[in-house]
Amino acid sequence: MTSRTCLSIILAAGEGTRMKSATPKVLHQIACLPMVAHVSRAAERAGAEAVALVVGHGGDAVRKAAEGFAPKAEIFVQAERLGTAHAVLAARQAIAKGHDDILVMFGDTPLVEADSLELARQKLAEGAAVVVIGFRPPNPAGYGRLIEKNGRLAAIREDKDCSDEERKIGFCNAGLMAISGAHALKLLDQVGNTNAKGEFYLTDIVEIADKAGLAVIATEASFESVLGINNRAELAEAEAIWQNRRRRQAMLEGATLIAPETVYFSHDTEIATDVLVEPNVWFGPGVRVATGAVIHAFSHLEGAHVGPRAEVGPYARLRPGAELHEKAKVGNFCEVKKATVEKGAKVNHLAYIGDARVGAGANIGAGTITCNYDGFSKFFTDIGEGAFIGSNSSLVAPIVIGARAYVASGSVITEEVPEDALAFGRARQKTLPGKGKELRERFASAAAAKKAVAK
Ligand code: UD1
Ligand code: MG
Repeated sequence: MTSRTCLSIILAAGEGTRMKSATPKVLHQIACLPMVAHVSRAAERAGAEAVALVVGHGGDAVRKAAEGFAPKAEIFVQAERLGTAHAVLAARQAIAKGHDDILVMFGDTPLVEADSLELARQKLAEGAAVVVIGFRPPNPAGYGRLIEKNGRLAAIREDKDCSDEERKIGFCNAGLMAISGAHALKLLDQVGNTNAKGEFYLTDIVEIADKAGLAVIATEASFESVLGINNRAELAEAEAIWQNRRRRQAMLEGATLIAPETVYFSHDTEIATDVLVEPNVWFGPGVRVATGAVIHAFSHLEGAHVGPRAEVGPYARLRPGAELHEKAKVGNFCEVKKATVEKGAKVNHLAYIGDARVGAGANIGAGTITCNYDGFSKFFTDIGEGAFIGSNSSLVAPIVIGARAYVASGSVITEEVPEDALAFGRARQKTLPGKGKELRERFASAAAAKKAVAK
């Protein structure tokens, strides 16, 4: 969009006591990503290149988390909670650097859309000094009301400070504001705290700017997109809204979801075209699914890459580092962790493949286990291409099974199996003709003798 520079200030000092949690409110997650990270992503998408994060209670945890989602963010501490304007001024140093646009956002409003922020920035570019993002909640109680006079936005009145007339206004402050960098500090420094809560209200800059003859305007965003989260019930509502948006996007981008309401995505899930996802599938963080793949019902995937036309499940678990190449199959009740299943290889039933490579076209029989852990360290299993592992085998790592080798069912394999070899790792079967009949007769007469004694 514009070449104007932009700083986003994210207020993350919320106490969040109603979450009843040891975790700071803004670190609670939506789609496996902290709420405050969603806010910072939206700001980034709207072109904010600098981020100032204002933390308070639980600040250390938020600071640490920020290293992951916004490594370049500057962190400021608001030691005392004296109001939203006071919180913004905690980032005074960042504001003083002279950005063109400043976006003020709340860390507990995770569904905010970049479009709303872009629109607000555009209004700044057109000459507004302050842009307030408004919305019309079903019940305005508790929100600041947007007071318009002669078609101008003249003030925001907090619920507690409203007259009865003002309280009837349905157009409310969502809490998001865009402020022209050229005016920001001058406006913020004039905010006082003579109001019902005795706080320094950010919202007061509207009246201050209007009185100074600066242009102040309101834009409107949807109720859903500015939902503020205060407890876990609202957290779940926001999750549901996020998931519905993402499911719709996945379908519009060419994936088939048979029962979309039962499929859960993470913030970073990548689904290609012509992927089929059956009901009740969970995508944890870091999953990529290539074109034509099928994820059958009740599968759980995390940190996994599923190749083109590969098949997963039903009831499969792919853990971090699972790499399925083209047309690979991981079937029911199988778990794959940190392992590559190469082109066309099959792990179809009841198997555990961890720290391993399964070569192209190999077949892993039902009940096969890679014994990768001795209680202290992990070891690697390398299965060559075209190998056949008979059912119910234990491959004790570190171990190499050569290409095209056969492992007999029920084997415990502890030594390397060379290419094209056949390995038995079990006792040989012994069959004694007629011995079964003899045994049955012996058992029957012993039981009869016992009964006769008892009488
Ligand atoms: C605020 C707005 C109100 C708006 C509503 C939308 C003000 C004065 N009021 O009211 O107009 O309708 O949000 O939800 O801005 N915070 C700090 N430090 C503080 C105080 C607050 O960091 O000293 C943070 C909070 O963590 C929160 C945000 O600022 O993320 C808003 O504060 P909150 O107390 O929830 O304000 P509301 O009364 O909801
Ligand atoms: Mg609030």
